[in-house]
Amino acid sequence: MPDLLIQPSGPLRGSLTIPGDKSITHRALMLAALADGDTTIEGWVPAEVCLATLRCMQMLGAQAEDTGSALHVRGRGLHGLVEPADVLHCAGSGTTIRLLAGLVAGQPFTTVLTGTDPLRRRPMGRVAEPLRLMGATVLGRDGGRLPPLTVRGGNLRGIEYRLPVASAQVKSALLLAGLFAEGETIIHEPGPSRDHTERMLRWFGVRVESDGPRIRLAGGQRLHARREPLAIPGDFSSAAFPLVAATLVPGSEVVLENVGVNPTRTGLADLLAAMREGRETMEDGGSKVEDGPAAPAGEPVVALPVRAAALKAAQVGGDLVVRAIDEFPIFAVAATQAEGATVIRDAAELRVKESDRIATVAAELRKMGADIEEHPDGMTVRGPTKLRGATVECHRDHRLAMALAVAGLVADGPTTVRGAEAIDDSFPGFVEAMQALAAPISWRDAG
Ligand code: S3P
Repeated sequence: MPDLLIQPSGPLRGSLTIPGDKSITHRALMLAALADGDTTIEGWVPAEVCLATLRCMQMLGAQAEDTGSALHVRGRGLHGLVEPADVLHCAGSGTTIRLLAGLVAGQPFTTVLTGTDPLRRRPMGRVAEPLRLMGATVLGRDGGRLPPLTVRGGNLRGIEYRLPVASAQVKSALLLAGLFAEGETIIHEPGPSRDHTERMLRWFGVRVESDGPRIRLAGGQRLHARREPLAIPGDFSSAAFPLVAATLVPGSEVVLENVGVNPTRTGLADLLAAMREGRETMEDGGSKVEDGPAAPAGEPVVALPVRAAALKAAQVGGDLVVRAIDEFPIFAVAATQAEGATVIRDAAELRVKESDRIATVAAELRKMGADIEEHPDGMTVRGPTKLRGATVECHRDHRLAMALAVAGLVADGPTTVRGAEAIDDSFPGFVEAMQALAAPISWRDAG
């Protein structure tokens, strides 16, 4: 199992093109297969979790050809999927299993969905319950709450549903099921979760109405493939690591190219901007990242210049947590270098991500000398702390591995991140990308 070795870093310099967005890649693979006509997907990320979605879609009958620069997907039409001959393996991907649960709930056949043991511990009741209300049969371990899930679909009816948690995965599952339902599916969401599914459905010509927190979709609408390629923007959640690294390592000056800045994703950039200015209390006033020209997938993209800066602590809660949900491992690293006590609240969802990110982030950063107190729904990080080089574990969590690597750049001695191959789940090429900015990070085969 390879480890990552990180040395204290000099200034980061240069520019970096951010690889494709994994959330958007999952959706492109699913929607292109449902469309009438063929779709060319450009800039997709061959992250482990997206490859899992591709394999699952192939087992459902999708045909895809990788030409190196793009993926050509032959659309099967709304009712063209076939019953898979075997269990669908979703690897460690919550997005794969939850979105596919919605998609196969619309099919007149039986599908079994499973994944790695961490995935089989993640809650599925949030998606199973509304799908049952729509008319699907969803069985699973622990009374239908844990994978493997068995879904017998077909004959769905639209429902009006209030999501108990702000979850783009659950919202997307219901929109996918809603395509196959009779009548309208109406979803109310408690916070601004990422809206990539809505944007991409529109790109394929489906009418999805968003009226603040309420989303409506009429069933039976067909998806129309388009002549122009479906271009996937760079992943803001991957950009987050060089963004924080260049903010923290003194003297750094970098440009991150091809960064997707959908406002439902850019909470971290808004937080860092406020911390540079020393604004202590964060109200979520929406995204402050300047919008770029819309990419063909209906997603804004910009080049983001980043310079090192001193940070002041922040208070984080409410909608901002939803807009930064995947960025808390790296945000906690930034908070260790900020002056004062950074308090994160309303973030209990972090406990059911790829790892329990409140517990694992606190435990591993403490090994490096960080001052972190856990709360049931967040943490308090006191800084600034000069971090120590240490040997840390990433708990099979890709974002924790990359966050710890960035922490190593500002530590006072060498750091080893164990089991860091998890990085390939979302950002294959992370190490080479950081090396291109002159960050002293390298692989060491631990045998
Ligand atoms: C995702 C939604 C979020 C996020 C995950 C990707 C998606 O999960 O944390 O990394 O692609 O829809 P939840 O829906 O559980 O909040």
